Amino acid sequence: MQVTLHQLKVFKTVAQHGSFTRAAEELEITQPTVSSQIKQLAKAVGMPLFEQISKQLYLTDAGQELLNTCKDIFERLDRFEMKIADFKGTKQGNLRLCVVTTAKYFIPKLLGKFCQKYPGIDISLAVTNHHKLNHRMHNNQDDLYILSQPPADLDLQAQSFLENPLVLLAPTDHPLAQQKNIPIQALDGETFIMREPGSGTRQAVEMLFDQHKIAVRVRLELGSNEAIKQAIAGGLGLSVISTHALTGEVSNGEVVILDVQGFPIRRRWYATYLNGKQLSVVAQAFLDYLLIESQKIPVAKKASDYPMAISA
Ligand code: PGA
Repeated sequence: MQVTLHQLKVFKTVAQHGSFTRAAEELEITQPTVSSQIKQLAKAVGMPLFEQISKQLYLTDAGQELLNTCKDIFERLDRFEMKIADFKGTKQGNLRLCVVTTAKYFIPKLLGKFCQKYPGIDISLAVTNHHKLNHRMHNNQDDLYILSQPPADLDLQAQSFLENPLVLLAPTDHPLAQQKNIPIQALDGETFIMREPGSGTRQAVEMLFDQHKIAVRVRLELGSNEAIKQAIAGGLGLSVISTHALTGEVSNGEVVILDVQGFPIRRRWYATYLNGKQLSVVAQAFLDYLLIESQKIPVAKKASDYPMAISA
């Protein structure tokens, strides 16, 4: 089959954007050039690669198969380039990372230092919730994933690197704020703010409450840890949040950590990738860096690590 790398690149860009025009913009070529490249490629394959249904562009089965092949080819080429740079004594190339929302409180800081150490590395960082990260992992979209509950249904390499305690937060004037060692049943009927469905934090909370048959009243669902902290401070309810997402709200006296049995929910952070995937030089360099540098990240082990919370 006579196909060129350029044709494959054009095809991959069209498939990713679902549009000839946007592919032309991204590749800085004209739209007729895109069309003719796709036409020649389809001729070489001997089957149509796209079909257009009421202005929407869809991949045919052959197109989908070609897209998978393209991803493999370009990934291998990327890895090859990184290897060559490595042979020459430099680390160069792209690192595609996908992390769950709470990890954004420490990963970007680590990345900053990593990029200073390796200025030739470009990073793309996707921040999303647990469910969407799993989807990306299924599709092998990124080099490495940072999450705190590796899915059991995927064959993964998972390297644990840090604790991720989830604490129960309340407004400072909450009646339980002054109490110690509160039985978890005291939460029955409490008003809660929950993360959106698909969140790993939410999953952990629901599991704990199911185990103890606690039924809370969910007043609000929010997709952002920042918004949740504000909502708690505003008196809208209780919520559960990773200590990594606390950036002074407890020590400033805006919210308190409740001392409830079963909390903190003990989780850990994992760096994962699909088993069988060959990590690029750059991804391996980041993984090594992460495993060492993350040990310097402070983790609050108990509520008394937040003195304002206890004395509030
Ligand atoms: P989430 O994940 O951002 O989807 O809640 C965090 C976690 O898994 O601990």
